[in-house]
Order: sequence, then C-alpha cells, then structure tokens
Amino acid sequence: MSVRINPSILSADFVNMERDLQLIANADLVHVDVMDNHFVPNLTFGPQMVKRIQEVSPVPLDVHLMIEDPDRWAVGYAELGAASVTFHFEATENPSALAARIRDAGSRAGVAIKPGTGVEGLIGHLGDFDQILVMTVEPGFGGQKFMSQVLPKLELLSRAIRAESPADLWLQVDGGIDLETIGRAAEAGANTFVAGSSVFSGGEPAENIERLRTAARRHSIH
Ligand code: DX5
Ligand code: ZN
Repeated sequence: MSVRINPSILSADFVNMERDLQLIANADLVHVDVMDNHFVPNLTFGPQMVKRIQEVSPVPLDVHLMIEDPDRWAVGYAELGAASVTFHFEATENPSALAARIRDAGSRAGVAIKPGTGVEGLIGHLGDFDQILVMTVEPGFGGQKFMSQVLPKLELLSRAIRAESPADLWLQVDGGIDLETIGRAAEAGANTFVAGSSVFSGGEPAENIERLRTAARRHSIH
C-alpha cells in the first residue's frame, strides 16, 4: 500500500510561498495549517490566502483546520477546491454530519484528534471519514517533539480500520515527524505523514521528502 508525504507549509517562507511550493512539487499533498488564535494559540491563514495558495500550488491541498467553529467554515475550504479538509473532533458536536457536508462539497473529509483525545468517539463510525489525523504534538506550532505516548492510539485505530474496512480511509500523523519518528508511526499503522521542519529546515526540501518516503515505506505495515 502506498504512503503519502504531505509537507506542512507552516515551516515555509511566508513571503516566498510560491517559490517554496515549487520546491515541494514531489509531495503527495501540501498540508495547510489554518489556525484562528482561539482553538490554538497561534494565527496563520484564512480562506483568501488558502484560495491563492491553491491557485499557485502544483500539488493539491490537505487543509488542517485548527479552528473553533469548523461547522461554519469547513465547507468553504472544500468549495475552494482543497483535496481534503480536516477539522478537529474536539471542535464540533457532530463530526459525522460535518464530514458528510465536506464530502458533498467535493473534498475528502478528515477528522483530527489531539494527543489527549481518545478514539472511542470514532470507532464504529470510521466509514464516515476519509482520513483520521492523529496529532503527535499539541496542535499550534511547528518544531515540537514527537509524543510517542500517542503510538498505542494509532495501533488501536489501525486495527479498527482493518476490522471496519471502510473504503480508502487514510491514517495520518502530524507533529515531530522526522526520519526516525516516521518509522515508528508507520509501524503503528500510519500511512500519511505531515512534516514541516524536517522538510523545510535544512537541505533540499524535495530530497527531504524522498528520504521520508523511503523511510516510511521501509517501515509500513500495509
Ligand atoms: C502543528 C501543525 C503541524 C506542524 C508540523 O499544530 O498541525 O502541521 O506544521 O510541524 P513539524 O513537522 O515541524 O512538527
Ligand atoms: Zn497540521
């Protein structure tokens, strides 16, 4: 089974975004972290900026909404053409209903859980989503340390995905992914990897992506 490497442009140069997007043209998807300074203590892009990024990006977008009211905003990101739109489980009353609206608007629907959030609310409903994002750091900032205590949760989800076998559901990790931690996440069942600092901070981004892809494939259990 294939693995996907989605570089996070939170670590790109914001005033040279078009150039940096060209540097990661070998990515599977481009991960865009939308933060509202309420759900997380940081502020990044809104819909206008994401729309423009999408117009100039050679690779489709994987939008990660770290915002307080995804019921109000998520569908707008799907409508502007993002390949996937992921909202936080903690931020909505009815994750399955919001996922259905995102799918209706034409995007893959993702749901994200913070490191401290359990998987109980998702098990049994996996078919409602196209992607489960397991945060491996507290959301809000790039460059944090991978939290290995999250690995058992990944294993649990990975087993549940095999048992429920929903069509084409991706298991994504985000936060602290580098050449070492990507192997551990892959062994626990992840197949879609977000990486910010390890792609953009040091060396050639395209080569960093290839190295991460090779490491993920080597350890993939799929
Ligand atoms: C953190 C964001 C991540 C971040 C990852 O809240 O969701 O996507 O950019 O950055 P690294 O790979 O540096 O941990
Ligand atoms: Zn993210």
